[in-house]
Amino acid sequence: MADATEIFDRLKEDHDRHRELIDKLLETSGDSQEREELFTELTKELKSHAAAEEQALYSTMLRKPPTTDETRHSVAEHHEIDEMLNDLAATDMSEGGWLTKFKTFAHDYRHHIDEEEEDHFPDFANYLDKEDEQHMREVFDRRKKEEKAEAEVTPEKKEDAKE
Ligand SMILES: [Fe+2]
Ligand SMILES: [Fe+2]
Repeated sequence: MADATEIFDRLKEDHDRHRELIDKLLETSGDSQEREELFTELTKELKSHAAAEEQALYSTMLRKPPTTDETRHSVAEHHEIDEMLNDLAATDMSEGGWLTKFKTFAHDYRHHIDEEEEDHFPDFANYLDKEDEQHMREVFDRRKKEEKAEAEVTPEKKEDAKE
């Protein structure tokens, strides 16, 4: 049976996978095949996670007025994460600047998921009933799969990105 703990544990499972991929990427160098493959997997994983998280969790939380600020904050960060991933994809991996940029991204992304786990999720759990929990878990599993199948690396320099 789905419960609040279950949906949040499922999201944390994804976060741990993201931490692992980021740690591996930090060990790579130059425009190696390994860096290329890990970055593609990280991009697809992060974009599909954020989309499914919005469709499952944050859309539900938007219906709970006390959590509106936290929800807006997180969704805005998802947009920034997308822009940073696109900017990294548009940056030459063979240059040292790529890793410098990736380190900034890694720091920001870790902050995002730490904040979700430590601040948002425990607060959200206070406003959820069984029906919400069941719904979120079903939507997340279904959408994550579909979003991941469609997710793409889309290079775009930050300065060219339209709001
Ligand atoms: Fe998120
Ligand atoms: Fe998340």
